[in-house]
Amino acid sequence: MATLRLGDDAPNFTAETTEGTIDFHEWKGDSWAVLFSHPKDFTPVCTTELGYTAKLKPEFDQRGVKVIGLSVDSPENHVAWANDIEETQGNRPNFPIIADTDRKVSDLYDMIHPNANDTLTVRSVYVIGPDNKVKLTLTYPASTGRNFDEVLRVIDSLQLTAKHKVATPVNWKHGEDVIVVPAVSDEDAKAQHGDVRTEKPYLRYVKQPTG
Ligand code: BEZ
Repeated sequence: MATLRLGDDAPNFTAETTEGTIDFHEWKGDSWAVLFSHPKDFTPVCTTELGYTAKLKPEFDQRGVKVIGLSVDSPENHVAWANDIEETQGNRPNFPIIADTDRKVSDLYDMIHPNANDTLTVRSVYVIGPDNKVKLTLTYPASTGRNFDEVLRVIDSLQLTAKHKVATPVNWKHGEDVIVVPAVSDEDAKAQHGDVRTEKPYLRYVKQPTG
């Protein structure tokens, strides 16, 4: 499989998970989804990542986002490891984890980067929209744990910008002012958002739209 790029269809698959066999598109429905891989069960960085992601479940739920993990380990290992995650991180995985022992999904989503490691998945993140298109990709090496607060922050931006003709500036967080996209005229920006703060003709801020 070639590298998946933004806007591409997120391919469907069936897989064994800690919550039984799933058909990905059926499981996802018309929700948003985060599909993320970790290199290996019973390893330290992965233990912290899965515990923290479990802690964030209410935040993902609030945004209508389903989360699913993946590694090439067996379902038995995923289940046994969950005890350690709960013991050390205070949260037990509360989302399905794919046991991709035949690497079918890893290959489909290009999660094994042979020049980094030819058997284990890297730390990939795919955010997939209700239309089953890829909206965001992240790739981290095994040695660097991801920032799942950043994944939530990006989802806030993706969901807002899917609905309104705005963009979000550097380090933006939910509730902060947003940028009017260049295709929108000053008149339309004013009609849609009220006050427009114009710093340059191409750099215009408005309050974050609600609704
Ligand atoms: C870790 O999660 O700590 C890890 C996993 C695979 C390789 C290196 C580190």
